[in-house]
Amino acid sequence: MTLKTEEPREILLSIRDLHVWYELRRFGFGRVGSVKAVDGVSFELAEGETVAVVGESGCGKSSLMKTILGLNIPTSGDVVFDGKNLSQLNNKDMRSYRFEVGYVQQDPYSALPPFMNIEQILEEPLIISGVKNKAERLDRIRKVMGEVKLHPPEDFLTKFPHMLSGGQQQRIVIARAMILEPKLIVADEPVSMLDASVRVEILKLLHALQEKYNLTVIYITHDLSTVKYFSARIFVMYAGNLIEKGETRRLLENPLHPYTMALLAATSDPDARNADSFKEVPPGEPPSLVNPPKGCRFHPRCSHSMPGLCDEKFPPDFEPEPEHFVACWLYQPK
Ligand SMILES: Nc1ncnc2c1ncn2[C@@H]1O[C@H](COP(=O)(O)OP(=O)(O)OP(=O)(O)O)[C@@H](O)[C@H]1O
Ligand code: SF4
Ligand SMILES: [Mg+2]
Repeated sequence: MTLKTEEPREILLSIRDLHVWYELRRFGFGRVGSVKAVDGVSFELAEGETVAVVGESGCGKSSLMKTILGLNIPTSGDVVFDGKNLSQLNNKDMRSYRFEVGYVQQDPYSALPPFMNIEQILEEPLIISGVKNKAERLDRIRKVMGEVKLHPPEDFLTKFPHMLSGGQQQRIVIARAMILEPKLIVADEPVSMLDASVRVEILKLLHALQEKYNLTVIYITHDLSTVKYFSARIFVMYAGNLIEKGETRRLLENPLHPYTMALLAATSDPDARNADSFKEVPPGEPPSLVNPPKGCRFHPRCSHSMPGLCDEKFPPDFEPEPEHFVACWLYQPK
């Protein structure tokens, strides 16, 4: 499978110094702290660009994506989509924004309403978005069923989600995300709940749709062995921060951040492994997001940590090679 070469394209999504904090409250005490799930994240995505966001469980991947989808309100910072700042949208505009982005969830079974059949599930977004003509709705449903390779549509339309396999359910979730022809698809661990035998098929399907419609896709995963299927860039997230960003092949071949090296060493795919360095995930647990460590959040687990620097000062993004950014003091220019 070949990845597209990068060429200048319009910026579709800008994330600017985004913070998503969840308040912790205790009965009788009020607010007792905040979970800093996303803490100062910035990036831009061009039209048609694909990126994988990787990181351990609890690092803030879903919080970031829900904010991009308009399901979480940022604590501070901006999400700007197609020139529109989400914080300035009224309810009506926010509703139409949600139609411009498609969401593929992790668990297809819980993502699909159990008491609606497939036709009703796919018809609902069309009705809400104002497609009044029943024949037109059915045409669009049949077309999208073809796109996700559920042939013939009539075999599926009257079925309920529980009558389908996990792979077929996820194809319906993708069809629902695609039916309003979004510019952006957010796929949050779209294959992690599926049998190994259908995972590659679903990733290939997403890749084919991305290429056909020049979709911008954000693919979230904790499994680095799957990112090569269709992500041109990788963003590595650790404890609420993006700590490394780079083109997929370059980042897999030459990971810079000690945490990325550890992640790669832990992956099951030998192609995505950096053979020379870190063979094991570093000891210790990801830090508390209520009281994250001062300085670099990885310093308690990092064998390269420089006392007085890493445990004091938060590292900014350095760019040791073109378009490859890393938030680590090891790469501070001399
Ligand atoms: N609604 C919420 N209220 C309070 N804390 C939350 C809420 N949602 C998430 N969190 C916390 O925010 C942190 C980040 O969670 P998030 O679900 O974004 O992580 P994740 O990277 O998607 O993890 P996973 O890989 O397990 O899906 C976690 O500590 C989580 O417990
Ligand atoms: S900034 Fe310091 S502690 Fe953090 S990853 Fe780099 S070397 Fe390790
Ligand atoms: Mg998640």
